Amino acid sequence: MEKEISQAVIRRMPRYYRYLGELLDDGVERISSNGLSARMRVTASQIRQDLNNFGGFGQQGYGYNVKYLYDEIGKILGINQQHNIIVIGAGNLGQALANYMKFEKRGFVIIGLFDVNPALEGISVREIKVRMMEELEDFVKKERVDIAALTMPKEKAKETANMLVELGIGAIWNFAHLDLELPEHVVVENVHLSDSLMQLSYNIANQRKLKKQKDKK
Ligand code: NAI
Repeated sequence: MEKEISQAVIRRMPRYYRYLGELLDDGVERISSNGLSARMRVTASQIRQDLNNFGGFGQQGYGYNVKYLYDEIGKILGINQQHNIIVIGAGNLGQALANYMKFEKRGFVIIGLFDVNPALEGISVREIKVRMMEELEDFVKKERVDIAALTMPKEKAKETANMLVELGIGAIWNFAHLDLELPEHVVVENVHLSDSLMQLSYNIANQRKLKKQKDKK
């Protein structure tokens, strides 16, 4: 049986992927865990431990082959394959997601935008047409949809998520301000930029406190 990898490790993987991508762009072919550690400000032992979850990849005295590790982490993260996304709620955030082309570079392709506002019907964001919610069921039957992004008001998000699950969509990228509880077979990633801002705010306060203490000495 495959070992269950902790979410904490999974959450660090995209960062490894990003740094390794930068190393590749810089023409670096191999790197030691110490070298990667210095660049990423993560301890070398943390890096070794994290990568050991997937069988290591490193060689004693050689370090990591950057391209190999990059590709392997890509496979672990499943970004060696295309994920088709639909966006529910074509307002500010929905359109911003649709406008962001770099997701496609990673295989995340937005194939449809949906909304309830007739004023948006037929407009296109980067050639992705906004369709009305009534068209959703037919669309999902015709196209392969891997992920639905929810960028709509939270009041309707639960109901909409349940409907999407009933239509067979197995993954929700949820931006509405509620934590969705869905059947276990559905994968949910809740994204709250405000959580990140609050963390930033905490760290600002902490920084100021430390500075004050230092100034007193
Ligand atoms: P917005 O008002 O510009 O867009 C919301 C869109 O959803 C509108 O076009 C509206 O017609 C549509 N909509 C309303 N009911 C719908 C339904 N039942 N089905 C499909 N579409 C429906 O709002 P904005 O700024 O784009 O924000 C969207 C959502 O994302 C809000 O719930 C907001 O609170 C949330 N948000 C979350 C963030 C996060 O970090 N998680 C960051 C920013 C916004």
